[in-house]
Order: sequence, then structure tokens, then C-alpha cells
Amino acid sequence: MQDLIASSLKYQNNTLSVLDQYLLPHQQTWHVCSDVATMRDLILSLKIRGAPLIGIGASLLIAHLAEQGATKDTLAASIDELEATRPTAVNLMHCMAKLRIALQQSDFVTAIVSSAVNLFNEDIALCESMANHGAALVRRGDNILTHCNTGALATAGIGTALGVIYKAQQQHGNIHVWVDETRPLLQGGRLTAFELERWQVPYTLICDNMAASLMAAGKVDKIFVGADRIAANGDFANKVGTYNLAVLAHFHNIEFYVVAPLTTLDVSTACGADIEIEQRSSAEVRGVSGSFGEALWAPSNAQVYNPAFDVTPAKLITGWVLDTGVYSQREIEAEKLKELS
Ligand code: MRU
Repeated sequence: MQDLIASSLKYQNNTLSVLDQYLLPHQQTWHVCSDVATMRDLILSLKIRGAPLIGIGASLLIAHLAEQGATKDTLAASIDELEATRPTAVNLMHCMAKLRIALQQSDFVTAIVSSAVNLFNEDIALCESMANHGAALVRRGDNILTHCNTGALATAGIGTALGVIYKAQQQHGNIHVWVDETRPLLQGGRLTAFELERWQVPYTLICDNMAASLMAAGKVDKIFVGADRIAANGDFANKVGTYNLAVLAHFHNIEFYVVAPLTTLDVSTACGADIEIEQRSSAEVRGVSGSFGEALWAPSNAQVYNPAFDVTPAKLITGWVLDTGVYSQREIEAEKLKELS
């Protein structure tokens, strides 16, 4: 397979490497990944994360295994195993479905490699299109709030919601970003802050529970977030805390946009209530861990509720920024998403 380079994933000289997103921003460690068990661990521990990137990383590994001579049966089992790692982000299922089709070809090795390379390149192009459509909604001087990490670290390209922000800064300048730290795993505080710093986009880091008072003070003009799955009626699942922001935005009359590529649409899911929400370990809420070590602040046996995602209903969304354009509530009600998929 040809060399492919993204911010947090690379295939170079027949070796797949993943940047450890759990250790960022203070440690930049790359892990070589050459088997399914390693990729499974990297995904489960969120060392590789972000809806588009999980699917692409898993696809590149399957393509690598195919080139290394894995049998059809082994590849089929590997696809099944990787698909089961995280249940909410539909991009992983989308990528694995493409590879299953490739596996049916007589020259399945060539077909799988070409599918994986296409998925990688397609994601770069999708990010660019979303960023252009989204940046047209932003005005010079806007204060934009975002949640979780949806940047280049989470995709093969410049990102989804954060890609829009980056593009808006390039096109209009004078943008300022409020970055939700995003408890429990702090993708905002660790990763979005890191990316905005690298891109030289002015930002201010806040704890998630500070967003309401900022909105009440008139300091938020627009909100852009990503998505892990968009249902046929426009409801979407994203990092837990997104729904809070949508409710707050509605109350304060602030524009709230979801940004996602067509690989995040799942029109076979009728509405948000049908999206499976990943539940994660209690340790993530009882304390925190990272490059600095571990801290436990709650009683070690405290009962914990830890859904990784929540669902935002379509009625709270101002617009769906997809790679094909920006869609309104009226268009979504007219089953526009079904038409696009
Ligand atoms: O659990 P994570 O860090 O993989 O969750 C990521 C998100 O919720 C993102 O907002 C979403 O995947 C879109 S990323 C381009």
C-alpha cells in the first residue's frame, strides 16, 4: 500500500502507526499497529479516536493484513472484531461494510487496499468541503463555542467542526474559540486546545459547566460540534455534553450547527432514540489519567453513570453542515438526509 500521512495516523514503509491521543498534548508517542488485538486496544482506550479516524485506522490495518497474506476468513473475522469495538460512531460500520464488499472480489487484496486508500483520501476531501460550507456561516469577530475534539486529530483531513473553525479563521480572521474541556476524558482540554494552539487560532479553555453563563453574558455567537451518528430524522449522537449545549443555545437564541461527512449519516436508524450509546468504565468519572499519571478523587467504589455520547434532537439544530452543503430543519423534515445517503 502507498504511504498515507495524517496528523495522528500514518502508513509509511508498510508500517501503520497511530499517535497516542491519550498522552497528548504533553507527550507525542506513536504506536506501531500490525495486528487486530493492538488496534482493538488502541480504539478501546481512545488512543485512536474520533468517528472518522477510527473507521480509517481500522480499514488501513485490514488492508495491511490483506497485503501480508491473511486469508479471506481471517480478514472477515478481523472486520467483525474491529467493527464491534465501539458501537455509537457509524463511520466504523460504514468503513467495515465497504471492506466486506471488497472481500467478495476475486482479487480481494487489491480491492481491499484500494477501498482503504479511497476511504482515507475521501475523508480529506469531505473535510475540505464541510469546512468551506461551514466557514460561510461564520462572520469576522465571531466567538464560537465547540465541544470535544473534531479536528485533524480525529480525521484524515482538517476535521469536521474544528475544520470549519480553522477555515473560518483563514478566510475571515479574528475568530475566537471557547473550548469546552469535555469531561470525562478531556478531549477539548487535551486535544482541541493543542490543535488550536498549533494552528494559532485564539481560544479560551472553559470547564463544561461554564458555557451557560457565557451564553447568558452574550459571549457566544455560534456553536459548532461534530457527530458520531446522524439518524434519518436529523437527531444526532455526539460526545456527552453536546445535548446540554443545544438546550442552552435554544434558550439563549444562539445558532447551533452540527458538522459531519456523509459517512456519519445512518438513515437506517430512524431517530436518535434508536442509536446505541456506548457506556464506559467508572474509573473515567471517579478520577482522571493521562501523561501526568492517575488521580482518583471519588470514593474508589462510588457508583458511576458514564455514557460516552448523548443525543441531540433535530428540533434544537439550526443547521446540518455536510460535505454537500448546509441543510435546514425544513429540508431535514422533507427527508433530505435519506435522499443524500
Ligand atoms: O469518544 P471520542 O473522543 O471518539 O468522541 C469523539 C466525538 O464525539 C466527536 O465529536 C465525533 O467523533 C466527531 S469527530 C470528527
